Amino acid sequence: MLLVKAEGDKVRRNWCDLLGEFRPELVAHPYDAPGLRAEEVTYALAWEPEPGWLAGLPNLRAIFSLGAGVDHITADATWPRHVPLVRMGGEETGQRMGEYVAWACLTLLRQGRDHAVAQAERRWRYKVGEDTARDLTVGIMGMGSLGAAAAPMLRGLGYRVAGWSRSRKAVDGVESFAGEGELDAFLARTDVLVCLLPSTPETRGIVDAALLARLRPGAGIVNAARGMHVVVPDLLAALDSGYLSGAVLDVFDPEPLPAGSPLWSHPKVTVTPHVASVARRRERARYVADAIAAFEAGGALPNLYDPERGY
Ligand code: NDP
Ligand code: OXD
Repeated sequence: MLLVKAEGDKVRRNWCDLLGEFRPELVAHPYDAPGLRAEEVTYALAWEPEPGWLAGLPNLRAIFSLGAGVDHITADATWPRHVPLVRMGGEETGQRMGEYVAWACLTLLRQGRDHAVAQAERRWRYKVGEDTARDLTVGIMGMGSLGAAAAPMLRGLGYRVAGWSRSRKAVDGVESFAGEGELDAFLARTDVLVCLLPSTPETRGIVDAALLARLRPGAGIVNAARGMHVVVPDLLAALDSGYLSGAVLDVFDPEPLPAGSPLWSHPKVTVTPHVASVARRRERARYVADAIAAFEAGGALPNLYDPERGY
């Protein structure tokens, strides 16, 4: 039996219907359905489960995260670490993140924020930037499943692309930098920094004043990973001093972004409400149903969280 913990009664029931469509032999229920017996539950599909809920399911064979990030599950100190934890994957998640990153880089390149402000004020503000995408290097911090999906889209637009990760990568047309030792070289050639790192103790606050100062002058920032990666006062200071040209931010700490945050009205900041990559429910249900089918046939689970690495 699989239990679905998602926001909203209708949404939970829709998840169960879709899972049943792709795998009719799977018994799926909303987590709050009456009469459930915890011992019968073998799979959980969850977003922001209440602390202790997963620990109360003694026969779990796998936990599926409703999103690619699993910080909403690992934040619960009691989550059962011996149970495989599957991150949401699938082609559409990468496609949507690639689209968002491409849009964000183009927004920075073509002064999207300036035009939006001028339009709101009914002002004809004629402004054409110097650079084209071919003049710029986008540096992607975090060349995992989503960074690797975004890179070819950026290449297609004409950008040079560099990637930074823990291990070296061989991605066509992408210059790879690995580990702390190569961070300086990566930052020194980056005109637009895109953060697609996971949320770990090592990456908390990684985009701070010291890091921003190592970027090329006039650089832009895109954060589509987690709010905890960016030290907001440092970002604001770098924007206000003119060292950075702009930022496109999809994720915040906390969320929703509080009404009083200076980010909302900053003339160089574009805010989106954590929408960079939300794959259709049907596609995510297909991914979960296929993963369970393969697992039950003796295969491996995809996209597993590694407790040793923390992502
Ligand atoms: P992955 O786990 O697939 O990739 C993470 C990448 O970061 C890997 O390349 C990894 O290196 C690298 N990395 C991890 N730690 C370090 C470190 N300390 N130093 C250098 N590199 C490091 O993650 P995803 O691509 O699936 O997700 C990326 C982010 O996007 C996550 O934060 C996720 O929560 C977020 N996300 C946001 C969404 C949104 O709508 N805004 C939607 C979906 C995801 P290596 O390859 O060597 O292991
Ligand atoms: C995710 C997200 O982790 O939407 O998938 O942030």
